[in-house]
Amino acid sequence: MTQIVEKDRVLIFDTTLRDGEQSPGATMTHDEKLEIAGLLDDMGVDIIEAGFPIASEGDFKAVSDIARNARNSVICGLARANLADIDRCWDAVKHAERPRIHTFIGTSPLHRAIPNLTQDEMADRIHETVTHARNLCDNVQWSPMDATRTEWDYLCRVIEIAIKAGATTINIPDTVGYTAPVESADLIRRLIATVPGAEDVVFATHCHNDLGMATANSLAAVAGGARQIECTINGLGERAGNTALEEVVMALKVRHDIMPWHTGIDTRKIMNISRRVATVSGFPVQFNKAIVGKNAFAHESGIHQDGMLKNPENFEIMRPSDVGLSDTNLVMGKHSGRAALRAKLSDLGFELGDNQLKDVFVRFKELADRKKEVYDDDLVALMRVGEDPENDRLKIKSLHVVCGTKGPQKADLVMEIDGVEQSTTQSGDGPVDATFNAVKALFPHRAKLQLYQVHAVTEGTDAQATVSVRMEEDGRIVTGQSADTDTVVASAKAYVNALNRLIVRREKSAPGSDTREISYKDVS
Ligand code: KIV
Ligand code: ZN
Repeated sequence: MTQIVEKDRVLIFDTTLRDGEQSPGATMTHDEKLEIAGLLDDMGVDIIEAGFPIASEGDFKAVSDIARNARNSVICGLARANLADIDRCWDAVKHAERPRIHTFIGTSPLHRAIPNLTQDEMADRIHETVTHARNLCDNVQWSPMDATRTEWDYLCRVIEIAIKAGATTINIPDTVGYTAPVESADLIRRLIATVPGAEDVVFATHCHNDLGMATANSLAAVAGGARQIECTINGLGERAGNTALEEVVMALKVRHDIMPWHTGIDTRKIMNISRRVATVSGFPVQFNKAIVGKNAFAHESGIHQDGMLKNPENFEIMRPSDVGLSDTNLVMGKHSGRAALRAKLSDLGFELGDNQLKDVFVRFKELADRKKEVYDDDLVALMRVGEDPENDRLKIKSLHVVCGTKGPQKADLVMEIDGVEQSTTQSGDGPVDATFNAVKALFPHRAKLQLYQVHAVTEGTDAQATVSVRMEEDGRIVTGQSADTDTVVASAKAYVNALNRLIVRREKSAPGSDTREISYKDVS
């Protein structure tokens, strides 16, 4: 099948929900995955890799539901080089209007040794599995994992087999982040010039960031002829992560003079999705990260601030509004009214109905009473937490902690559990530990704490802390989040938020639905 792709158009393939979610600790809930997929679709992502359907029941369901809900994007699922994986993948993606199967196998000498296949045996396996995928779906992507460390002749041979078997996209993964820009461009250019049938398929680039070169390598691959970039929001991904969507898209936009390719991404949606992915994955964005870091548009030094006031172009190569940040960084405070809050939230991408605004306004006033200046990031944190307190079975009524150099640290906690007030005093190794012990004493459970993360939302000692807590019980994984100017209170609320979600999950999903037992070895 010849694919018609406009010559200078680069397709954006987002794998936040597959490769990104694979990074240890970044597990998202079902609803969070659906929400992120909706945002990706909305911002113009061409292909969403929604998950690895055979990896778990939870992955299968997430990919199926994302496929059903997709509006414009192609929905893709990952499958190893075996028929069962590919069938399972098809069963999940087939609900999409535009489904894609992505199947892969490690082709480098190191990776061939894992399933212990000879070059010929692996070549046969590729022919068989790509043919099978193509019989199910007319949009098939094939990847030789660890392509950048695969022998040149063998790489050409297996790509030719995959194309002949019906692959429509050939992805060239730099699985271990080993290549460099010159080599990345050269590899794609030579493959396109050498492999028979290359002109009928789209070549894709998939770069990991182990040497900090993923974005540069992806752009170099495009210069070499690739027309699909695989990437994730905030560069989320295993080890040092993947190419960051926001970086390649903005680089192509800002330096169009020397990189004359374009994407279909609405860049004004970048900041919102970046913040959302940071929240749900529990991986905060580093302050100085390009494009989406908190400091990416901050100008501290006097000379820079003066230069900015005279002409923003002195120190900015793009406008904050290009990525969805408001130009006017209007700081809110306790005198700000409801109309100002509505306008500000709308600027930040939140359109609220009257009832929602009423609720948020109460929380905003509480915050403004404790904090002199309420910044954009404070408001985003306020919007993202405590989503549906009305339906929560567990509620914190009051918390008082004793902490300091002289132990024991203690927590006096009053909670309402199913409408009944209960209280306890517990000690622990520090105020947070004492508080978590108190919650557990009032609501005994078997869930294990997998992650506890604190992140200051803004500067200053009165900054809000956002706390993320992830817990696992019988293979069900839940995350809880909260924000407060008091770190211990934020921690308690995040913990209780996670427990409330766990109570819902116990009713709605089977044990083990979030755990994966998968190995790349299993190709047969
Ligand atoms: O990095 C990699 O090689 C991958 C493949 C599964 C495409 O993620
Ligand atoms: Zn990868």
